[in-house]
Amino acid sequence: MYYPDELIEEVRMKSDIVDVISGYVKIQKKGSSHFGLCPFHNEKSPSFSVSQSKQMYYCFGCGAGGNVFTFIMEYENYSFQEAVKFLADRAGVNLPEAEYNEETRKREGQRARLLEVNKEAAKYFFYQLRGESGKGGLKYLMGRELSKETIRKFGLGFSNVSSDDLTRYLKSKGYEDKLLIEAGLASFDEKYGMHDKFWNRVMFPIQDINHRVIGFGGRVMGEGKPKYLNSPETMIFDKSRNLYGLNFARTSRAGNIILCEGYMDVIAMHQAGFSQAAASLGTAFTPGQAGLLKRYTQEVVLAYDSDGAGVTAALRAIGILKEAGLTGKVLSLEPYKDPDEFIKNRGQEAFKERIAKAENSFFFELRMLEKDYDLNDPEAKTKFHREIARKLCGFGEEVERENYMEAVALKYHISFESLRKLVFSHAARNGMASPAVRPKPGIQKKKDPEENKKKPQKILLTWLVEEPYIYQKIKKYISPGDFTEDLYKKIAEKLFADLESGTVNPAAIISLFADEEQQREAASVFNTKLDHLSSRAEQEKAIHDIVVSVKKNSFDYFYSRSTADVSALNQVIEGKKALEELDKTHISLD
Ligand code: CTP
Ligand code: MN
Repeated sequence: MYYPDELIEEVRMKSDIVDVISGYVKIQKKGSSHFGLCPFHNEKSPSFSVSQSKQMYYCFGCGAGGNVFTFIMEYENYSFQEAVKFLADRAGVNLPEAEYNEETRKREGQRARLLEVNKEAAKYFFYQLRGESGKGGLKYLMGRELSKETIRKFGLGFSNVSSDDLTRYLKSKGYEDKLLIEAGLASFDEKYGMHDKFWNRVMFPIQDINHRVIGFGGRVMGEGKPKYLNSPETMIFDKSRNLYGLNFARTSRAGNIILCEGYMDVIAMHQAGFSQAAASLGTAFTPGQAGLLKRYTQEVVLAYDSDGAGVTAALRAIGILKEAGLTGKVLSLEPYKDPDEFIKNRGQEAFKERIAKAENSFFFELRMLEKDYDLNDPEAKTKFHREIARKLCGFGEEVERENYMEAVALKYHISFESLRKLVFSHAARNGMASPAVRPKPGIQKKKDPEENKKKPQKILLTWLVEEPYIYQKIKKYISPGDFTEDLYKKIAEKLFADLESGTVNPAAIISLFADEEQQREAASVFNTKLDHLSSRAEQEKAIHDIVVSVKKNSFDYFYSRSTADVSALNQVIEGKKALEELDKTHISLD
């Protein structure tokens, strides 16, 4: 949904940044800003600042920054549109509904109905668990050492022994048979009519990342088959694109996400404080799920069952993670079967240690591979080494491959040189993988030669925001067209217009950018610390140098792009003259 600029600005003005951020981070007023511990990186002393006058936040530690939209985008992992929607709801601003065509509207209507009926069902199960008929279910869950709080947090419920009470309840609420069937909550047959899909099970509502119930898993209490019964895939329940527990895990900021196999494992981990746990939905891990995880983390720790099936599943998942550009690690649960059992027996601290000791996924793969070879037999050993070489060719990036070769040589007592030869002879025959696209870490400082050209432009903009009166002194030398970086040019256009009218509004400028990365960069323009220049002469010299270097860059830029016709040549000559002139000019700040 595309919202008009004025509306976005209205939402922003009605969402005071100090007010909004206070809801997430403890901040204290110090001087003209509020300070607190940055929610985007780990720190012990506060370098996260929120400015009420600028309506912006900035972390001097990690460089995170922006306006109220950026904050919500980063914290809640929302898109720009979602953040606008979220804050509009909070501020009571009405946003227009998207205009859909007939077919889309129908589909959206159907999705909404499915979500609604699932929510109703979840509520129903939730109340049954707390009622007379749900006693057995509650006892079962308590027996598995879940606290009341955990049961509430995950919205666990109970489906009664009766074969159609949910259906009757939902029908009384006005939902038609067809919808119940489509939602996978009930089915119809000639003999029995409409009957519930789930009965006599403890119920696990499955939520999407926005906490909406999209399906259910139901477990028998004790032995019985199937152990878990799951909702079928529906229009709103795509098992390959959702993960159980991710609605909580995505905001955990643990630095990794723990991926496991079971609902109970996720719940046990969260209860023990590992709120970064998520699980696939009774099906194998998919690339779609890896893509989803990548929105929230760089590192995935696999905590799959320690049995043979778990190892096979882990090996598959490693390949998918690698393909998605995610770092994979494997956590050992030995001698227990799954995270739930491990935590029950060994506790939280021991589990924490296991996370810290999680094995690099490549070495895990080799360790599993090794089991197929008898390393006392030279023939088998050679085959094993060849297999290692083949796998090493999977690293497309040279530095990474070399690092792994070194580590492997050391670990498996192979001479580095012969390993390298093996790798190259394999590569010569089959080719090397092309370099994987490495994901950008959430917050990163770019360091390239372009930085030298960008810096003066950035400083000049910062200066103009901090000391608007400078504008009058420099405007005859510099125009927005002199900013060669697209982002800075866009900022300059708005900022110069604002300065001309005397109302500078940094946070509104940031809203010009819908992309989070750009917002971050724009925010940094408004929060770069300027060196403190005490004397007027020093300031004037600094301004002069900055203006000259911005102008020079602008000249070089257009010079390198101008064609060889006469008018262009004239421009170049004039530009050159103007530049030399400017260089000799003293810019007075008085
Ligand atoms: N599963 C399923 N259908 C089954 C068995 C399992 O969909 N018949 C899925 C469920 O999502 C389950 C996961 O696979 O959470 C892992 O299964 P398993 O290891 O057998 O169960 P646990 O998670 O250990 O369950 P519990 O601890 O309740 O025995
Ligand atoms: Mn289990």
